[in-house]
Amino acid sequence: MSAEFITFGAPQIEREEIDEVVRCLESGWIGTGPRVAQFEAEFAAYKQIQYAAAVGSCTAGMHLSVLAAGIGPGDEVITTPLTFCATVNAIIHAGATPVLADVDAATMNIDPAQVEARITPRTKAILPVHFAGRPCDLDSLKAIADRHGLKLIEDCAHAIETTYHGRAAGTFGNFGCFSFYATKNVTTGEGGMILTRNEEDLARIKMLALHGMSKDAWKRFSDEGYKHYFVLEPGFKYNMMDLQAAIGIHQLRRVEANWLRRQQLWNLYNSAFADLPIETPGDPQPDTRHAYHLYTILIDEAVANTTRDEFLEGMTERGIGVGVHYLSIPEHPAYQEKFGWRPEDWPKAMRIGRQTVSLPLSAKLTDEEVARVIDAVWTVLRARSKELRAKREEVSAKTQEVSAKSKVQDEHSLALTA
Ligand SMILES: Cc1ncc(COP(=O)(O)O)c(C=O)c1O
Repeated sequence: MSAEFITFGAPQIEREEIDEVVRCLESGWIGTGPRVAQFEAEFAAYKQIQYAAAVGSCTAGMHLSVLAAGIGPGDEVITTPLTFCATVNAIIHAGATPVLADVDAATMNIDPAQVEARITPRTKAILPVHFAGRPCDLDSLKAIADRHGLKLIEDCAHAIETTYHGRAAGTFGNFGCFSFYATKNVTTGEGGMILTRNEEDLARIKMLALHGMSKDAWKRFSDEGYKHYFVLEPGFKYNMMDLQAAIGIHQLRRVEANWLRRQQLWNLYNSAFADLPIETPGDPQPDTRHAYHLYTILIDEAVANTTRDEFLEGMTERGIGVGVHYLSIPEHPAYQEKFGWRPEDWPKAMRIGRQTVSLPLSAKLTDEEVARVIDAVWTVLRARSKELRAKREEVSAKTQEVSAKSKVQDEHSLALTA
């Protein structure tokens, strides 16, 4: 990779994180301990909620949430086809069956009307994703959940800063699951957080996240002396380490400053691309706050004169790291084989998945790098349309030549028969 390559989603790591990791390494305790407890408390305070449990990933968080919601074999969970595979896998790992409800084309979020249409007597929960950081229609989803007695589990992997009608995403459902993966708005390298609405759910999540044990290691080995533990149910190894929390604590302190920077980049992109033959993301809905996690454009070949994949190649050639969020879930062979799904059955997610490109939106980007991204988008689209125009002119010149020739031939044969 050349030094100039702009890595998609590169995290912004500062001196504070580095120093805290070193202090943690030197402290004698790098596993789950006081730094995880501090990160949980500070994240809960940021989200203005009481209960938060740090885990190893958002995937682990969703798996535990589905289990803690009492969902298992024979149950159905409705989710979106426009998401990362982890959302669907978490449902499958809990032994339940995922059911897909198509998205709204403009918001790219799950369409409540489609959710309602897919409810059966086996439906136990709705698992929406706040796509790109834009909140779902939570009023409608909550009303559906309440009407049918369903649990609501929010996939907030993109939505750390998101609010809906003044309230934080992740606090509407029974569980809200966040990701601190390397490309996310707050990162711990790998990591996740689950928000719960009550102490019982929190206790069950914490127990399941650590083998189903009655006490975690920090409590067993503390200076109060060794304490026995008992396994209360067979759990998982889904805990976060202090080493990860050491990064997260300082990342969280910059969450708002980074959000402002990404908002600035988002607006810059919007005005820079206004005249291009591509679709840019819609404005945030009134009385909501978008987390600006992903800036996605849609490349419709018929309008842009280039395919999405050619565009991706063009950007990579120019040293710009780009992403695809996401090919719709039914495009993947694993789900086609398991459930017989076909992408065409969720046409809106399919179209987005086949046309979408995510541009770099990290707070780490310098002004010069942002200018390079904008320039590359223009150059790739213009180069491609120029190429196509030239090709079209060549084809029409050839067609004219052929028809001129056949005209001469026709006249010649006419003259012969006369
Ligand atoms: C929408 C969505 N859900 C879930 C996940 C899984 O997060 P994690 O990598 O923390 O398990 C991701 C991560 O990319 C995501 O984008």
